[in-house]
Amino acid sequence: MSIPKKVKLVEVGARDGLQNEASPVPAEVKIKLIHLLQEAGLPVIQATAFVSPKWVPQMADNAQVMAGITRLSGVQYPVLVPNRKGLDAALAAGCKEVVIFGAASEAFSKKNTNCTIAEGIARFSEVCHEALAQGLKVRGDMSVCLGCPYEGPVDPAAVARLAREFEQLGCYEITIADTIGVGTPGKMRAVIEAVTRHIAIEKLAVHVHDTYGQAIANIYAALECGIATFDSSIAGLGGCPYAKGATGNVATEDVLYLLDGLGIETGVSMSQLLLAADYICHHLSRPTSSRAGKAIANKMAA
Ligand code: HMG
Ligand code: MG
Repeated sequence: MSIPKKVKLVEVGARDGLQNEASPVPAEVKIKLIHLLQEAGLPVIQATAFVSPKWVPQMADNAQVMAGITRLSGVQYPVLVPNRKGLDAALAAGCKEVVIFGAASEAFSKKNTNCTIAEGIARFSEVCHEALAQGLKVRGDMSVCLGCPYEGPVDPAAVARLAREFEQLGCYEITIADTIGVGTPGKMRAVIEAVTRHIAIEKLAVHVHDTYGQAIANIYAALECGIATFDSSIAGLGGCPYAKGATGNVATEDVLYLLDGLGIETGVSMSQLLLAADYICHHLSRPTSSRAGKAIANKMAA
């Protein structure tokens, strides 16, 4: 068993973390959050989503956010795009990386993107063709890989099929997401095994939500399989508006505590991360959901 010596952390707090917030979060708060996150050393920060504002009003300020951030060289700022309209807007905003997203279950595909899995692939075929022609990088996120809120268990073979489609579309990275946080380590391993029959492990990332408190265990299982890219969200913010009952993403602080403890290099500073968490929690008038964040704050207060 050998776990990676270095891990890439993909921060999704400004997008997944905030997309489900009921009250609008001003663009300037999102911009400041992104600046604090990049000061913490995060190499990839999902900045926003160019999705329909009718579906996700919180991301309606996407262009304003992209225009407001000071981009650092060496940091990537991917954005979600669901269709050609989203891609065109992302290109106009100067984005260099886009994320397409599909689901491993038909019911979730319909709820989240109003189309079947096959229709989604057809949409993304045009998006990827154009994005790659314009020199952009494309990542593919696969939702509900460890369970669906509408269909229940998901066959790992369905995840592997979607992963192959995304690879053929030209995705440089493909993400196994536990959208509703129902997975446990055995299931995570089974899905990774099914996908790695077709896709190199180096191309895979894992994105977990912590609904059932299994996120860190699932990340550890994925590390043992050789996954070296993980999504996480500052202060554990997050949730998908179309995933009933799902709570936040795994907290970046908790993942960093795990990785630091394992001696795995990330380039991310815990103390700077906590400043970003304080900032956004203060704005949302909500305590952090990060266990490590709370523990460190308590220790410092004592
Ligand atoms: P639709 O209603 O079938 O599409 O939605 P439509 O083409 O009929 O468009 C409806 C309206 O939206 C039209 O406006 C379009 O112009 C507009 P109207 O003519 O009525 O005034 N529109 C857009 N506006 C701006 N940007 C666009 C865009 N597209 C259409 N790109 C659609 C289909 C895919 C657009 C919609 O379902 C959608 O936007 N879905 C996105 C849902 C979403 O963002 N979910 C959360 C992100 S995924 C996630 O969180 C999971 C992840 O974290 C991994 C995990 O945990 O699983 C990534
Ligand atoms: Mg998510």
